[in-house]
Amino acid sequence: MQRILIWDVPTRLFHWTLAASFAGAWLTSESDQWLSVHVFLGYLMLGLVVFRLVWGLVGTRYARFSSFWFGPKDALTYLRQVLSGHAPRHVGHNPTGSLAIYLLLLLTLVVGVTGFFTLGGEEQQGAVAGWLGIVQGRGFKKLHELSAWLMLLLVLGHLAGVVVESLLHRENLARSMLTGSKLADAGTPAARPRWLVAGLLLALMAGFGVWWFFYALHAPLEKQLGRPVGGPQTPNVAFVGAKLADNAQWRDECGSCHMAFHPSLLPSRSWERIMAQQQQHFGADLGLDAATSAAVLAFLSANSADRRATEAAFKIERSIQPQDVPLRVTQTPYWVKKHRDIAAADWQSPLVKSKSNCAACHSDAEAGTFLDAAMRIPRNAASKAKP
Ligand code: HEC
Ligand code: HEC
Repeated sequence: MQRILIWDVPTRLFHWTLAASFAGAWLTSESDQWLSVHVFLGYLMLGLVVFRLVWGLVGTRYARFSSFWFGPKDALTYLRQVLSGHAPRHVGHNPTGSLAIYLLLLLTLVVGVTGFFTLGGEEQQGAVAGWLGIVQGRGFKKLHELSAWLMLLLVLGHLAGVVVESLLHRENLARSMLTGSKLADAGTPAARPRWLVAGLLLALMAGFGVWWFFYALHAPLEKQLGRPVGGPQTPNVAFVGAKLADNAQWRDECGSCHMAFHPSLLPSRSWERIMAQQQQHFGADLGLDAATSAAVLAFLSANSADRRATEAAFKIERSIQPQDVPLRVTQTPYWVKKHRDIAAADWQSPLVKSKSNCAACHSDAEAGTFLDAAMRIPRNAASKAKP
């Protein structure tokens, strides 16, 4: 027996990065605050799979698909041999493990792509924002969750396989995926590192990543914001939201006393009532002439929550009873539900002052997008300082 290289560095890096990304994506899947990390891990996993597919063609001996090109039948046969305790040892991937690998690669693709469309549809963010409606996005989310669960099951199956196989052949498979080497009969060919190919591939992928991050994602964001982006003020360039409807007259007339509340925050019937009661607008008289009123109302109605242009619009609209006509965004059931856990001290903070001061906590409130990634409760130095 001799100790030889089986798993090259790129394969090991791929394996552990994928495992860590999967775990991280799972842990961050339920929380809005971690959405950006979750999505980043999703992009990373898609990139890893693409890498692995190419490495399966041009990589080292045991990483190449040709070295573990087994079918489902071989996998079943091997499984039966394992159960009877007489499975032959494979230094590379065994037939059952191979099937798990192919399925995992496929599922990672499915999870990644459905996640991409969930982000674009339900959250109206990312490269496909605006392609799909919220309802379709929610459909993709179901597929995304289902495929992620399947993937988890497969990962558990894979872990069980590693344990069983390690016991059966008295070797530590997890360790060899760390060190890369295994004991093998004399004459078993070792993997020969292919640094040049690996380096080229890595450079190619890193180049693509840089292009994606600095050009593909930045350019539309800069266009939307009308200024160069970068630095700590731009929270998440990976989350370019679909640009919402805007109108100069509406901003002029409705943005002088408070921030102009985007039309997508209330249904048409609310805007109609607000405009009809403009002489008694929360104690103020807006004093708009008929033509201005009509023009502003036309814009408000055409882009109201009924159009469901954002996830917030969709949920606000759905939360209101058909017979209700709320005059405040802050009285819609969805808004109340989303903000009920915020502490009184945060509302009373001089940095917030009023519930309708959306921009205090949502840096994209003016744009109307209300992305999760753009939300932060401001806490002044005094409240954070220790007594
Ligand atoms: C003269 C000042 C003034 C102008 C101009 C004005 N508003 Fe208001 N608006 C107010 C005040 C005051 C409130 C109550 C704010 C509060 O309670 O925090 C308010 C509240 C609102 C709210 C409810 C916010 C919430 O709590 O959810 C909406 C919606 C609203 N305004 C829409 C409009 C629209 C649409 C226009 C343009 C047609 C407009 N406002 C123009 C003074 C104004
Ligand atoms: C004191 C800070 C604060 C203010 C002011 C505030 N919000 Fe929020 N908002 C939050 C926080 C925190 C969340 C996240 C709650 C959660 O997800 O559990 C949130 C969530 C939301 C969401 C849901 C986003 C999503 O997709 O999950 C919407 C929509 C929203 N806010 C709209 C508004 C509007 C409109 C206003 C002004 C009328 C406003 N908020 C004022 C703190 C604030």
